[in-house]
Amino acid sequence: MKRKSVLKNKFIPVNVPKIFRQEKVFVKECLETAWISSEGKYVGRFEQSFSKYNKRIYGIAVSSGTAALEIAIKSLNLSKGDEVIIPTFSIISTALCVVKLGLKPVLVDSNLENWNMDKDQVLKKITKKTKAIIITHIYGFPVDMKDILNISKKKNIKVIEDAAEMIGQTYYGKKCGSFGDISTFSFYANKHITTGEGGMILTNDKKIYLKCRSLRNLCFGIGNSRFNHDDIGWNYRMTNLQAAVGCGQLKNIKWIVKRKREIGRRYISILGRCNKISIQQNNFKYAKNIFWVFGILLKKNSGISRDSVVKKLIKRKVQTRLFFLPMHKQKIFKKIGLFSKKTKYKNSEYLSANGFYLPSGLGITNKQIDFVGKTLLKILKN
Ligand SMILES: Cc1ncc(COP(=O)(O)O)c(C=O)c1O
Repeated sequence: MKRKSVLKNKFIPVNVPKIFRQEKVFVKECLETAWISSEGKYVGRFEQSFSKYNKRIYGIAVSSGTAALEIAIKSLNLSKGDEVIIPTFSIISTALCVVKLGLKPVLVDSNLENWNMDKDQVLKKITKKTKAIIITHIYGFPVDMKDILNISKKKNIKVIEDAAEMIGQTYYGKKCGSFGDISTFSFYANKHITTGEGGMILTNDKKIYLKCRSLRNLCFGIGNSRFNHDDIGWNYRMTNLQAAVGCGQLKNIKWIVKRKREIGRRYISILGRCNKISIQQNNFKYAKNIFWVFGILLKKNSGISRDSVVKKLIKRKVQTRLFFLPMHKQKIFKKIGLFSKKTKYKNSEYLSANGFYLPSGLGITNKQIDFVGKTLLKILKN
């Protein structure tokens, strides 16, 4: 009800998810049969169909993308002090999963074309202590992974591919989320597929699969030893209700991917020629942008600050979201002295200070896209 009145009011939220008919049918069945917690057929069904879609063998549904990362990295059995390479420009979950296990995050700057971790820098930062790399695809365009994957294989470095923002995207024609030892996903309401809150881990390795399943469910013992736990796990289970929503969403994935690209193209048709902004790399030999969100990066010569653009947009009832704050700028990590102050990550800092994204959820209408795009153009022209 609230959402309808929000739209009527002309306020354009940064994200409105799309719920299809099928989700309601599946959820109704869960409610009517009282299979509402993590037992129930939809969890297994969602795991199977999602892993099949991504061409992986095993799927482990969990309560969030953050939970997926925590379980994924713990399943690798790394030792305290081992180095894990991560992008500095990402959601804080990327660093938290490393820090919480006593591992050492090693940061990599972004490149300004695709806003992802720079692959040459990743290669440069590999040392004897590097035991894992988290490849995080940002906003809609994949990291150039080929060299990272090859070198990791040679050096026995584990790779987690965080495809939270990339459901349905491909890299050289192969699904993002099917690379590396483990891949992780989020199903928060702004993701291509949502379960409200939720996440998934995918792998082809049976040992990793079994470990992740156990970690998700408090590492319960088997049979009469059920309450004798053999490791420090979590309750990061997904409910049957959430999985039912996921199953319904997945049935519409083709339309979702198509619509996401349409939203991107429509924004480009309005904003593409404006010389005060750049947008994320769109069409390159290994991928076409899937526009999880439509990001805007103000150029140095734009003559207007990001914060004032965002303020003007909200005055016209257009909600936006600022780009990530890099890890090395995070209050908590500064407080604990996690990263050296000497190393600079210029591109990530530029992205963070000058970037924001426009309403890009699947619930947005073409009329709203046109309004947002034209409003932004006017603001930039003045
Ligand atoms: C790349 C990436 N990884 C992980 C997450 C965390 O997912 P969640 O919000 O489901 O915990 C997000 C959230 O937006 C994300 O963008």
